[in-house]
Amino acid sequence: MNLEQFSLYARERVNRYLDQSLTDYPLAATLQEAMRYSLFNGGKRIRPMLTYAVAELFGEANTLTDASAAAIESIHAYSLIHDDLPAMDDDDLRRGKPTCHIQYDEATAILAADALQTFAFELLSQPELNQAATQLSLIQTLQHASGRFGMITGQMIDLSNVDKDMDLSDLEQMHRHKTGAIIRAAVKMGAQSVGVTEASTLQALDNYAAAIGLAFQVQDDIIDITSDTETLGKAQFSDTDANKPTYPKLLGLDGAKALAKQLHDEAIAEVAPFGAKATPLVELANYIIDRNH
Ligand code: IPE
Ligand code: IPE
Ligand code: MG
Ligand code: MG
Ligand code: MG
Repeated sequence: MNLEQFSLYARERVNRYLDQSLTDYPLAATLQEAMRYSLFNGGKRIRPMLTYAVAELFGEANTLTDASAAAIESIHAYSLIHDDLPAMDDDDLRRGKPTCHIQYDEATAILAADALQTFAFELLSQPELNQAATQLSLIQTLQHASGRFGMITGQMIDLSNVDKDMDLSDLEQMHRHKTGAIIRAAVKMGAQSVGVTEASTLQALDNYAAAIGLAFQVQDDIIDITSDTETLGKAQFSDTDANKPTYPKLLGLDGAKALAKQLHDEAIAEVAPFGAKATPLVELANYIIDRNH
C-alpha cells in the first residue's frame, strides 16, 4: 500500500468508527452538530494513520485500534476548537472553513470541545469492548498525553510566552508537550491496542514518535510562514502576528528546515529494523516534513 492508499484506508476506517459512535442525543442537537462540524471538516487524520500503521506492524488492527484512533482524533479536534478561541490564538479559519466559534458561537464551541474531550474517554471505556485491562492502559496513555503532563501544559507554555523570547531548550520542551505528546500517544496506543508489551519494541516506537512529533511542530511553524492561507486552510503568519515563539524565529527558516530533516532521519532509523512492514511509518515521516498544510 502506498501512502495515498494507506491514508484513504485509515481515514475511512476512523471516520466510520467516529460516525457510528457519535450517536444522536436529541436534547443536544446543536452541540452534536458543532461536534460533528469540528470532527468531520477535513482534518488530515495523521494521528489515526499513525495508530493504524503501528498496529499493523504486528498483524491486523482491531476494535481497540479503532477506538484508540477515534479517541485521539476527538481529543485533537477538541484541542483545535479551544486553540482557535479568542482567548487563545483567536483564529477565524481552520481547514479552509470558519472556526467552530465563528460558525456557531463561543459558548457552543467551548462546550462542543468539552464534549469531544469526554467523548474520547467514552470510546475507550466502552464495556462492550470487554478488555478492561488494555482499555485502562489506553485511557492512561491518552490522559497522560492530553492533560497536565502533556498537551495542556504545552498550550499553557505557548500562551504564557507570547511576546517573550524563549531559548532552544524551552522551545523544544514546549513543542514536546504541545504537539509531541499526543503523537507519541497515537503511536503507543497503536501498539497497546494489539497487545505489544516488549519493552525494546515499545522504546524504538516511542523514539520514532518523539522525533516525528517534534518534527511535526517544527514543520507547523515553518508552513505558518511558507504556505499561503489558501493552502494552509488557516491564516498565514498567525504565529508572527501573534508574536508566538517558533522554530524559524529562533533558528531561521533554513535552520528550522535542517532540524526537521534531522529529526526525520532519526525517526526513520528507529523503525528500519521492522523492514518493509514499516513502509507506512516511513512514508508518514516523509509526509510530516514535506507537507505544506
Ligand atoms: C494542527 O494539527 C495543530 C497542531 C497540533 C500543530 P494538524 O496539522 O494535524 O491538523 P489537521 O487535523 O490536519 O487539521
Ligand atoms: C496547536 O498548535 C496545538 C494544539 C492544539 C494542542 P498551533 O496553535 O500551532 O496550531 P495551529 O497552527 O493553530 O493549527
Ligand atoms: Mg496555538
Ligand atoms: Mg493555533
Ligand atoms: Mg501553528
